[in-house]
Amino acid sequence: MKRVETQFLKGVAHWEQLPADGRPEVALMGRSNVGKSSLLNLLVGLKAMARVSRTPGRTQELNFFAIGDRLYLVDLPGLGYANAPKRLRLLWSRLIERYLAEREPLALVLHLVDIRHEPLAVDLEIMAFVAEQQLPYAVVLTKSDKVKRGRQAVARRELDLALREAGLGEVPVAVTSAEKGLGRAAVWALVEQALADPDAPPADDPPQASDAWDEAG
Ligand code: GTP
Ligand code: MG
Repeated sequence: MKRVETQFLKGVAHWEQLPADGRPEVALMGRSNVGKSSLLNLLVGLKAMARVSRTPGRTQELNFFAIGDRLYLVDLPGLGYANAPKRLRLLWSRLIERYLAEREPLALVLHLVDIRHEPLAVDLEIMAFVAEQQLPYAVVLTKSDKVKRGRQAVARRELDLALREAGLGEVPVAVTSAEKGLGRAAVWALVEQALADPDAPPADDPPQASDAWDEAG
């Protein structure tokens, strides 16, 4: 598998640590354990660029990976990890929320959904937030190696229904298996499309971030 020149830049725990060079950013978002780090490794063609963990919720920062000098892939903390200390969870969600709502270079949110399950509460929350903020958005169904073709079709219908109910119309979807190395080109195509799309909604006019953010750090 061809490798993409990739470098881990840094883990960001506070807004002020975000890169200042303005390169476009593609965020990988989804519930804990859905396969964000595995997808990132698949995309860049390396087995262990982003840490893959069997312990959900291990990634606690926004992890920035430089793809050449063109863009950043951003591995967001997994959402909905119930056992994280309460205060930490708050910190995650505040930083993620502010990042999504206000981050100027954010070119695409890739929402990862496990193909085995109907979209969960946390997935519906993500969709509602994306609709509200009008974020550039695509869905990646993960772990396709774990299901038969029939389930894949059902998963697509369940996903489409959830998207429609969230008020999200034409959302591109890619099906992947990090395990089998499938769907890599499809996801890169979504990224390229987002980077090329001049109609992508700009990130201006953001709602005010929570005033408590700085205190939370
Ligand atoms: P957090 O960082 O904890 O939020 O998790 P994550 O979303 O980054 O998930 P991660 O990539 O660490 O994967 C979680 C588990 O799912 C690991 O055991 C992976 O090996 C497994 N996994 C990820 N992608 C696939 C896939 O496509 N197929 C299969 N069978 N397993 C996968
Ligand atoms: Mg991870």
